[in-house]
Amino acid sequence: MDTKTKYLGLDIESPIIAGSCGLTNSIADLEKLEAAGAGAIVLKSIFEEQIIYDIKRNLSMMAPTDNYGMSYEYVASHVADDSLSKHFELIKEAKKRLHIPIVGSINCFSFENWMTYTQRFQDAGCDALELNMAILPYETSLSCDDVERLFSNVINTLRKAVSIPISVKVSKNFTDMANFMQRLSWMGIDGITMFNKALNVDIDVEKMELCHAPSLSTPDEIYETMRWVAILSKKLRCSISASTGVHTATDVVKMLLAGAGTVQVVSCLYKNGVDYMRQLNDGLRDWMKKHNYEHLDQFRGKLAVKPNEEASLFFRTQFMKHFAQI
Ligand SMILES: Cc1cc2nc3c(=O)[nH]c(=O)nc-3n(C[C@H](O)[C@H](O)[C@H](O)COP(=O)(O)O)c2cc1C
Repeated sequence: MDTKTKYLGLDIESPIIAGSCGLTNSIADLEKLEAAGAGAIVLKSIFEEQIIYDIKRNLSMMAPTDNYGMSYEYVASHVADDSLSKHFELIKEAKKRLHIPIVGSINCFSFENWMTYTQRFQDAGCDALELNMAILPYETSLSCDDVERLFSNVINTLRKAVSIPISVKVSKNFTDMANFMQRLSWMGIDGITMFNKALNVDIDVEKMELCHAPSLSTPDEIYETMRWVAILSKKLRCSISASTGVHTATDVVKMLLAGAGTVQVVSCLYKNGVDYMRQLNDGLRDWMKKHNYEHLDQFRGKLAVKPNEEASLFFRTQFMKHFAQI
């Protein structure tokens, strides 16, 4: 069975990719993931907040007599450089030791900083970049036009700044999901990762404090991802990397049938260990063998909404089939 495919224009041996997380942040784990058959690896993101925190911590360690005004620029650039250089060392080392594509990941919130980071990822040798534009529309003053304008400004500028492929990782929070994803795919990007899973906040009722909700996905989260992949995969100019809720080899097959170019996994690796990647690949090949498929293209997108088909009709039919019988 041949599971070769393309991801952001790059040749990969398997459509199953290790998504950005704490398990893609050390050479030891990256090597294990490659050995277990990951098609590519998206590195743990550089978070702009992380760098700003480092900068502030270093400033607070300075003597009170220090003139912050004079030294801030220096310290800020020094600390940011140090924090980033560790990450860039990881990229360089990964490129020396691994053969599969290494995708850098950036999670920023300000327009200016994106530019510098992006060029440096490219210089460090990343094969591609995934931009995690985790923008939640918190502000009541922010309209969906404002959010979408921010996306297009960042992407348009980045597209000119680097020559490596760019993928944009999006959240599920768009009013006009289908319309905007299509417009996004026309902006010269090479892929869209659907979806980022926002870290939810919970409430501890005894301490009456905010706390983190569980960060891992559950298997039933696949359905929402799969629905959008099926609706959009044949309507975008770039391919979709399906993320959130993929826990088994059967889930991988479902996403490919829905039209995903590739599939990203994270929570199932946390639950079962990085070697679980091997089981996912074996399961995919077993399914292909059972159904007499030699290549992914023979079945990819078989159950996607067709280019000229109306998604509403497609889903209405499923709805009717189910509820008419109850
Ligand atoms: C512990 C943990 C750390 C993560 N860190 C990042 C990150 O640094 N950057 C990013 O884009 N996504 C990050 N994610 C989100 C994952 O890449 C992925 O989109 C999400 O977990 C949904 O996929 P899953 O259902 O396979 O877990 C993280 C997820 C987890 C559970």
